[in-house]
Amino acid sequence: MKDLTPKRSDLDPIEIASRDEIAALQLERMKWSLAHAYENVPFYRQSFDNAGVHPDDLKSLADLAKFPFTVKTDLRDNYPFGLFAVPREQIIRIHASSGTTGKPTVVGYTQNDIDTWASMVARSMRASGTRPGDIVHVAYGYGLFTGGLGAHYGGEKLGCTVVPVSGGMTARQVTLIEDFRPTTIMVTPSYMLAILDEYKAQGYDPAKSPIEVGIFGAEPWTNAMRAEVEAAFDMHAVDIYGLSEVMGPGVANECVETKDGLHVWEDHFYPEVIDPETGEPVEDGEMGELVFTTLTKEALPIIRYRTRDLTRLLPGTARSMRRMEKITGRSDDMIILRGVNVFPTQIEEQLMKVEGLSPHFQIALSRDGRMDKMTILTEAAPGAAGEEARTANAKRLGHLIKSVIGVSAAVEVTDPGGVARSQGKAVRVVDTRPKD
Ligand code: DLL
Repeated sequence: MKDLTPKRSDLDPIEIASRDEIAALQLERMKWSLAHAYENVPFYRQSFDNAGVHPDDLKSLADLAKFPFTVKTDLRDNYPFGLFAVPREQIIRIHASSGTTGKPTVVGYTQNDIDTWASMVARSMRASGTRPGDIVHVAYGYGLFTGGLGAHYGGEKLGCTVVPVSGGMTARQVTLIEDFRPTTIMVTPSYMLAILDEYKAQGYDPAKSPIEVGIFGAEPWTNAMRAEVEAAFDMHAVDIYGLSEVMGPGVANECVETKDGLHVWEDHFYPEVIDPETGEPVEDGEMGELVFTTLTKEALPIIRYRTRDLTRLLPGTARSMRRMEKITGRSDDMIILRGVNVFPTQIEEQLMKVEGLSPHFQIALSRDGRMDKMTILTEAAPGAAGEEARTANAKRLGHLIKSVIGVSAAVEVTDPGGVARSQGKAVRVVDTRPKD
């Protein structure tokens, strides 16, 4: 793999500023953001008043803990435009994230918000090893989802040639990569696996593909998956994080030279990690739920938004800005099986250890009498499809899951191609247990 470390002189000065400089900028911007929310959004005025706090009470960054949280239902309750802090005419873009139930969560952007977003995605791409002049293949979905257009504007801002492919039509993805020769691809990690299969199916050697950098996010993925994709394509696989409520992709990103967690772009987004039970902030280094406060957003300021994503904050390395550890999962995705907590990423990690199985998987939860049952549905890797190999590999995965995670799971191994492919975010859990 090529050394794609960006030159220090190409970074935004704030990325490598002193912690004091970063904190001073954050405090100034946080005061503005709290006042902007309080003065322009009735929801925030009411929630601050109910909690007995006023934006003037913020004297230090730690004072943020006095302010109330915002949660997903607050956006739903104010559907569609009730949390906007500027007149609707100043909103130049709307996005929405589809909830599994009910109405989508709607977000809006002013021209300045779009410019900031493009700059943060450009910064993320530069950190990933993409350079101005590169061809960038965007296979995140375009539309209400923030992935496609978010990546697109970032690539243009960095000075790249952006190919807006969107998700789907996997055979065409491969043709366009081979013909246009992009050096960067931006896509969900699960869809990258589908592209990898298609690469092989069309008779190409993925290691000879033009791609040097993959910028993967929108769903959890493991370091084991990174190793697999990096080896197959002979490229760097780098993690990008974000969420619609806070902006979209580009809230945090790994650096290609270290790949040791995602630097949070702290000049625009202030991170906290809290104990999800008590709501109290925990020390850096401790696991908990990630919470964000936007520092510069005009259309939709977000104060202490509970992401439900589980991680911990770590000190800066390649940049001065703090890192968040690769996300293991969301509190919503946690499966509690007979008292043991299981995240889909833990299953992924074990699956990657069994050579004869493909990395595609789904977890089916069902009820067997009075017991909950977990079945891992996965596929034989091409070439390991014999009956005997399948049985042995299924047994091996079941054993690994039992001994490392501590739960019993049935394993079903289908023919190659038997597990539904994602074209965006993978659906990892199918729960058919009766609701009680
Ligand atoms: O997924 C934004 C995005 C697009 C990020 C493209 C990265 C790349 P939402 O649809 O609002 O926004 O979903 C946000 O996705 O709270 C996490 O649970 C999950 N997520 C996003 N990035 C990562 C990541 C976009 N790198 C939700 N690792 C978040 C793990 C991620 N989970």
